[in-house]
Amino acid sequence: MKIIDSLKQRRSNYDINKNLPIEEKVVFDFIKEATELVPDAFNMKSSRVVVVTKENQDLLWDKIYEVFNGQVPREKIDGFKNGYGTILYFVDNNVVKGLQEQFPPYAPKFIEWSKQSAGMLELSIWSGLKELGIGASLQHYNPVIDDAVKDLFSIPESYELNAQMPFGGINSEPSAKEKEDISLRVTIL
Ligand SMILES: Cc1cc2nc3c(=O)[nH]c(=O)nc-3n(C[C@H](O)[C@H](O)[C@H](O)COP(=O)(O)O)c2cc1C
Repeated sequence: MKIIDSLKQRRSNYDINKNLPIEEKVVFDFIKEATELVPDAFNMKSSRVVVVTKENQDLLWDKIYEVFNGQVPREKIDGFKNGYGTILYFVDNNVVKGLQEQFPPYAPKFIEWSKQSAGMLELSIWSGLKELGIGASLQHYNPVIDDAVKDLFSIPESYELNAQMPFGGINSEPSAKEKEDISLRVTIL
C-alpha cells in the first residue's frame, strides 16, 4: 500500500473489540519489525514497546480507572479495555543518558529526539495496524499512571511511559474528516 493511502486510512478508532481479523502472531511480528525499522537520531534505539493482551489488558485498564479515582468515566475506560490489547510505548532513559554522556554538545537534544522517534514509531504502528484491519487510538494517561504501570508489569525503572495505544477489531469507523485548507499550513516556494 502507498504511504498516502495508509495515512488516509489511519484514524482514531475508539469503537474496538477483542476479535482480531488476523492471527495475533502477525500483529506481534509486525510490531517487532516496525520497531526495528523506524529510525532514531544517532541510531540510538531508545524506544521500548510492551504489548499487553488478555488478562493483562483488563488489569491495565482497571488499574488506570483506579488510579484516576473516578475522574475518568468507567464507560470511557471500558471502551479501551474492550480492545484486544494495548501497546505501551516507553523511552529507555538509560539509552538517552548514555548518548548525552557520549556527545555532550548535543546533550539537551537527546530527550527531544527520543520523543520524536517515539512519535514516528507510534504513527508507523498505528497506520500499519489499520492496514491489517485493526483499529487503534493513541492515549496519554501518563504520567499519572507511570508508577502503577511499572508495578503492574515489572517495567524497568529507566523506562519512561510515552503513550498507550489500545487496539482491536473494528466495530464502527469514525465519521469522515473535514477537508482543511492545507495552504494555511504548507508553503511551497
Ligand atoms: C501526539 C498525539 C497525542 C494524542 N493524544 C491523544 C489522547 O491522549 N487521547 C485521545 O483520545 N486522542 C489523542 N490523540 C489523537 C488525536 O486527537 C487525533 O489523532 C486527531 O484528533 C485526529 O483524528 P484522527 O486520529 O481520527 O485522524 C493524539 C494524537 C497525537 C498525534
